Amino acid sequence: MGFNQEDLALIKEEFRRKNLRAKDEATQRLNELKANIPGFREIENGFADIGQGMLSCALDATLNEEGKAARLAQLDAQRQELSERRDKLLTAHGYPLDYTAPRYACKRCNDTGFAGVYMCDCMRRELVKKGYESSGLGGLIDTQNFESFSLRYYQEGEQRDNMARVLSACRKYADEFDPASSGNVLFTGGTGLGKTHLSTSIAKVVIEGGNNVVYESAQNIFNDFEAEHYGRRAERGELTGKYLECDLLIIDDLGTEMPTNFNISCLYNLVNTRLNRRLPMVINSNITEPAEFSKRYTDRISSRFFGEFKVFRIVGRDIRSLKLLGSK
Ligand SMILES: Nc1ncnc2c1ncn2[C@@H]1O[C@H](COP(=O)(O)OP(=O)(O)O)[C@@H](O)[C@H]1O
Ligand SMILES: [Mg+2]
Ligand SMILES: [Zn+2]
Repeated sequence: MGFNQEDLALIKEEFRRKNLRAKDEATQRLNELKANIPGFREIENGFADIGQGMLSCALDATLNEEGKAARLAQLDAQRQELSERRDKLLTAHGYPLDYTAPRYACKRCNDTGFAGVYMCDCMRRELVKKGYESSGLGGLIDTQNFESFSLRYYQEGEQRDNMARVLSACRKYADEFDPASSGNVLFTGGTGLGKTHLSTSIAKVVIEGGNNVVYESAQNIFNDFEAEHYGRRAERGELTGKYLECDLLIIDDLGTEMPTNFNISCLYNLVNTRLNRRLPMVINSNITEPAEFSKRYTDRISSRFFGEFKVFRIVGRDIRSLKLLGSK
């Protein structure tokens, strides 16, 4: 499992800055007090002297253990006394006692992103947010998720029963997603039946599980490969590396692209590479018949699809127009 490495590097840098900023601002507040409260600077200098004194006491070879303990106790009493004076001074001038402490947004990790060796929840949340952005799903994830998916649009009886099975298989797939062992899914069916909605629902859960998801329409994917292939825009791999490497690739609207030789061989290479690497894919297509698939994409591709993908055939009425009509 891996968050997008670029995202991780970005977030780590953001956290490093956030942590430094909190410290800088604390230093500024300290300087403000030194400038504004008579006697405050002397107290702060006193703390520094005591710290220095403790250090030299620890390193002093002429003192035996007893002598060191006595000296340290003395210094500690001075520190205590200084600390009380500092508190009084702050209160007298209307400042809270923790005025000069850094104000971290996250108290658990002090904005370092890590609590011990574990990633803090706050950093994980930021990564998930970045994951939504870099997945290519944008705002779709807010509206098209399992929570907003309803079975009521499918006709009672066979249609709805079928969809209930598909839905529960999708939830299970998303909940149990593991890039090392999850299989592939192919949704087929006409327009407006919820194929994209189901895929974005899966994507959301899988991203939240800390996986790197890429979602794109088939045509856009092929365009990226083409741009790279003909060297028009980018270094090899710059545009397309993510399609070959991400934990879960979602290809939307397969079958609506131009059936050019380039597109077809591109699909073959992409699907083959990911199958060989055992990296999962979710594909949506408006092509429902295996024969039609073979005709368009050759038997070579078609057999891989129907052999290595779990195929969900979705039937129903166009939900987009049902919603427009205000139908329940
Ligand atoms: N089961 C459902 N419950 C609620 N809204 C749905 C459902 N299925 C589809 N929709 C909505 O209907 C519209 C079309 O669905 P979409 O998933 O894009 O269809 P497809 O990808 O099969 O063409 C979208 O706005 C989607 O959110
Ligand atoms: Mg769609
Ligand atoms: Zn934290």
